Amino acid sequence: MTYENILVETQGKVGLIRLNRPKALNALNDQLMDELGDALVKFDADADIGCIVLTGSEKAFAAGADIGGMAKFTYMDVFKGEYITRNWEQIRNVRKPVIAAVAGFALGGGCELAMMCDFIIAADNAKFGQPEIKLGIIPGAGGTQRLPRAVSKSKAMDMCLTARMMDAGEAERAGLVSRVVPMDRLLAEAMEAATVIASMSLPSVMMIKESVNRAYESTLAEGIQYERRMFYSTFATEDQKEGMQAFMEKRLPVFKNL
Ligand code: HXC
Repeated sequence: MTYENILVETQGKVGLIRLNRPKALNALNDQLMDELGDALVKFDADADIGCIVLTGSEKAFAAGADIGGMAKFTYMDVFKGEYITRNWEQIRNVRKPVIAAVAGFALGGGCELAMMCDFIIAADNAKFGQPEIKLGIIPGAGGTQRLPRAVSKSKAMDMCLTARMMDAGEAERAGLVSRVVPMDRLLAEAMEAATVIASMSLPSVMMIKESVNRAYESTLAEGIQYERRMFYSTFATEDQKEGMQAFMEKRLPVFKNL
């Protein structure tokens, strides 16, 4: 697939995807989402990649789904899933971590896309919001579901109902983002975090991702049980032997992802 709306590169063991529709503030149309899904699946399948970073421009991570593209849709157009939502969940199938590096606007589907990533690093100019209500619609890719889990019901209601934006500081205080960094450090910081993750044992990385995500889908007792089973299974890996041996020998581990 040739990409027209994203830029893809690798740096070491990190796959970097940049949303690239600058004239529309990276508004997410079906073509862009197809390309993003394709790039994510390829990185996920690539044994040389250990972590993925998703970013936009300095002005916008993404200003939402493409309003011009959506304006004429009928109920049946969207219900049948041929448009807008058809490829939005692809990112959830990715088993390697995806870090969102967010600068500027992350609105509507852009905020939802960032929340589908495993964690968000924000530049100090980042602005998050779910302004769909102003368009006579509601969030359609997790805004009413992931946002309350991330920032509390009260803030999620406030944002979805009033359409107000949350700046980077508020987003960090509310727990929506893991860290805030100066704009000119954003990509470097995200790439450094991704490089650290990619240097770990991939089986551990993937199990942690699965296990943390389980916390959102289960009771505490089930989640603890799930984690315990995953933990036991790490003792079947060569990387566990290597990691512990390396510690005792006071050297760095050489993980083989086995
Ligand atoms: C299409 C968009 C767009 C969008 C911006 N643009 N957002 N085009 N879809 N979501 C375009 C503008 O039309 C404009 O094009 C160019 O990008 C620059 O935008 P401006 O508005 O001129 O910039 P600015 O004044 O800086 O304002 C930035 C902004 C504003 C606050 C982000 O653009 C804005 O409110 N955008 C819409 C945000 C929104 O409502 N998002 C939710 C969409 S619904 P031209 O050609 O005029 O230069 C959604 C549903 C998700 O996301 C469903 C998921 C399944």
